[in-house]
Amino acid sequence: MRFLRGVSDWVDLQWSLLYRALEAVAPRAHGRLLDVGCGQKQFELIFRPHVDEYLGIEHQAIFEATAANLGRTRPDYLYKGDRLPFDEGTFDTVLSIQVLEHTPDPRKLVAEMARVLKTSGTLIVAAPFSFRLHEEPHDYFRFTPHGLRALLSEAGLAIEHIEQVGSLWSLLAHKLNSYLAFRVARIGRTAQQLGKLGHEFPAQHRPRLWALPFIVPAIVGVAATARFMDRIFFDREEAFGFVVVARHKIGKGTQKA
Ligand SMILES: C[S@@+](CC[C@H](N)C(=O)[O-])C[C@H]1O[C@@H](n2cnc3c(N)ncnc32)[C@H](O)[C@@H]1O
Repeated sequence: MRFLRGVSDWVDLQWSLLYRALEAVAPRAHGRLLDVGCGQKQFELIFRPHVDEYLGIEHQAIFEATAANLGRTRPDYLYKGDRLPFDEGTFDTVLSIQVLEHTPDPRKLVAEMARVLKTSGTLIVAAPFSFRLHEEPHDYFRFTPHGLRALLSEAGLAIEHIEQVGSLWSLLAHKLNSYLAFRVARIGRTAQQLGKLGHEFPAQHRPRLWALPFIVPAIVGVAATARFMDRIFFDREEAFGFVVVARHKIGKGTQKA
């Protein structure tokens, strides 16, 4: 099972390149961390070594409709999606991974994240630029780095670092591989059994086992080629998304509240 999960993570370019980008920014996390829209906390391991406490909160209604609700890892808090149930300046780090696209009012959610973040705190946000429709109907937006900068600025935050997740080739390869895996071979349910796609609704289709001997080598070949091409011909105009690190404009340069 662990081997299969490792292989599926390697061919899942969106997941593994996001993981890599989060590893790059994780040393900036510190103190008490709040993961907003934590799902199954699948990236907790990356941040744990850098923080004293790792707490996750979820939008109750949306979370309970996804496959993440069937997993063993639970959020520490559930809320109704309006006001985060914490006082101002409670957290040293606020983290939010692939959540902003799922709220019809990202301004409000960013303002809430800024409110519970200490003035000396660090906000880490990962948001998609190009990704298939998912968690429908709660899938509202995609983001550019400029849009993220404007959005965060309205909440009094300034971006100090941006990581691009993937590039043209990994993006093309991921779209092709997703089609082969989920539409042709229909392995959505298997992926969920491996602990992936937790943020999606529980998959219904049975896998087409007869297709696997053709599809699996094709997917591995496509992923390997894309990883190579991204290195040689990196394109900054295409990406899965961006991970940004921001701080309160007022708290810039200060380390402790
Ligand atoms: C694509 S999943 C990402 C889950 C997790 N961050 C991860 O990367 O594995 C989006 C998550 O955002 C949650 N969500 C949607 N709107 C939210 C809101 N307003 N506040 C907090 N979480 C929200 C959903 O319940 C869902 O678990």
